[in-house]
Amino acid sequence: MNQKNSSNFFVFFCFIFLVNAISFSQKKIPVYKDKNAAIETRINDLLKLMRLDEKILQMTQWTYGKNDNPNNFEEKVKELNPQIGSLIYRSTSPIYRNQIQKKAMEESRLGIPILFGFDVIHGYRTIFPIPLAQASSWNLDLVKKTSEIAAKEAWLSGVNWTFSPMVDVARDPRWGRVSEGYGEDSYVNSVFGVAAIQGYQGKNLSDKYTIAACLKHYVGYSLSEGGRDYHYTDVSRQTLWETLLPPFEAGVKANVATVMSGFNDISGVPASANHYTLTEILKEKWQHKGFVVSDWGSIKNLTNQRVAKDLKQAGLKAFLAGIDMDMVDDVYKNNLLKLVEEKKITIFQINNAVRRILRIKFRLGLFDKPYVDELSEKERYLQEDAISVAKELAAESMVLLINENDILPLKKEFKNIALIGPMVKDSIHILGSWAGKGKPNDAKTIFEGLTNEIGAKSTLHYAKGCDFDGDDTSGFKKAITIAKKSDVLLVFLGEKSSWSGENGSRSTIALPKIQEDLIFELKKTGKPIVLVLSSGRPLELYRLHNKVDAIIEMWQPGTFGGIAIAEILSGKINPSGKLPITFPQTTGQIPIYYNMRPSAVPKMGHYQDIPIEPLYQFGFGLSYTDYQYSEINISSSKIKKEQTITAEIEVTNTGNLNGKETVL
Ligand code: NOJ
Repeated sequence: MNQKNSSNFFVFFCFIFLVNAISFSQKKIPVYKDKNAAIETRINDLLKLMRLDEKILQMTQWTYGKNDNPNNFEEKVKELNPQIGSLIYRSTSPIYRNQIQKKAMEESRLGIPILFGFDVIHGYRTIFPIPLAQASSWNLDLVKKTSEIAAKEAWLSGVNWTFSPMVDVARDPRWGRVSEGYGEDSYVNSVFGVAAIQGYQGKNLSDKYTIAACLKHYVGYSLSEGGRDYHYTDVSRQTLWETLLPPFEAGVKANVATVMSGFNDISGVPASANHYTLTEILKEKWQHKGFVVSDWGSIKNLTNQRVAKDLKQAGLKAFLAGIDMDMVDDVYKNNLLKLVEEKKITIFQINNAVRRILRIKFRLGLFDKPYVDELSEKERYLQEDAISVAKELAAESMVLLINENDILPLKKEFKNIALIGPMVKDSIHILGSWAGKGKPNDAKTIFEGLTNEIGAKSTLHYAKGCDFDGDDTSGFKKAITIAKKSDVLLVFLGEKSSWSGENGSRSTIALPKIQEDLIFELKKTGKPIVLVLSSGRPLELYRLHNKVDAIIEMWQPGTFGGIAIAEILSGKINPSGKLPITFPQTTGQIPIYYNMRPSAVPKMGHYQDIPIEPLYQFGFGLSYTDYQYSEINISSSKIKKEQTITAEIEVTNTGNLNGKETVL
């Protein structure tokens, strides 16, 4: 190469270098969009670029998607502010959801994805038994599996975040939300809560089909006075630390993504304005790294609870206490800017809250893969594994409470069988409250289950008898007529799904009089009665239990509960559920739970008009077979803090049927 050529080459090389440098700087993506950068580095970068108004919108959750007729999608997407932090997404359409997300990614200044949340409580479209029932199975693996399936169905419908599990230790069955948790014991709530979190969140939140979980309602909500929802809670430090906090701590240790603050006033400082519980315990002591969302309206409600004079003060109190995202009530959106200008809140504090929210969005992989697959409903829901797990868990959660003279499983000699009661052909209440996007049309009724299971061998006679409530006894006549020609009466009573869940408190846990009267009338026929109950809470059964030969509590077992109960009645499945909550004798015996603190005078002081003991204890549940337990062998008789000991026991099935037994 001569001199001239070499200088030409040099010029040419410089030119290429320049062109490359220009195109590189044009293409250079900001650090927060670089999927290879560490999450905390990405968050810091993004926070530097965000304006205050954008940060406040990240701390705001709206609700959307109710009007999900595909013809409205375009219009609705157009209306939406793309900067919003989160939406409670009520449609099931992944297409609509992706359109909304596309708007956030492409039309918001920094392209921050929206976090789509929904109440996936015991299933999304395939509905599993209510959580209280799930705990009766004592089967953590199966509960984890249900959450995994629920997460997948939800994810495929555009949801990235569920407001579950609820780990409020509940000892007052009048409280409607007793159905949503895992019963009266703190440890049971801890382990089932963790199983649910592991199912929803999977190994890695950014994996396909996993969704963020939310522990709720932090904390003390289940202690609402007299079981009245939303009411004041008088929570001693002892109860707080010993009973209420442990399931939340376990969930935080299991890396739960988010926590929801409760509606309740904790001994004078509402849960949604409580610096002690939200910041000192949750964020500082336990080092929770995700974010805290308020419950729907719980910031606004601070004015009702008389701790804030107006919404601005409510926002200030909630924010300073540690709530990072405002669910739906727009208090943050309308007040935080002003509060920063007035120097009541610092940018540093705002950044801390937004950092937590962004962290979950990054952990979910939403910045890198903001869209979900757009599959048909048939490909998304009620898949084979969902159906079999739903059936299995429903069966494992049913509890046999009485079985006089081994009336169950149903004998071959029962040629004529009466099916009576408002639950027999029901497909709504069997799903329970908070049934997500579950559809009555998908549900297998008890009638269908039994027709399939025993209809070929026996003649089934059906009469509704009465409704769930009211005073119309005109159906009794037909019920009695079919009862008289039957060998055994299977009576299916219980609660409507709306009698439990939020705002579902009841002054009595007895069945409505009309249902009890139906049993009294049927008893007069002298036929054996098998009573099957579907409820979201323990029921008051002391007037009924000695009028019937068997009782099964089937709870609200979900889409495939009708098949499960039929297989239990026929004996194909041997019941193995045990109660995670005490059944009192009467409503007046509440509160009563297995680990009550000792009384000063244990043998005295009880209600004099009813037995001392509850009707069915926590942990109670029969089987069609018998088990014999050996002595317990314990690895050490002493235990130190953080130490583990093992207890071994041999269980022998001494009966004639195969069975499953949980040793408590
Ligand atoms: C209010 C309920 O208390 C809470 O459990 C639920 O997750 C939210 N609303 C969102 O629907």
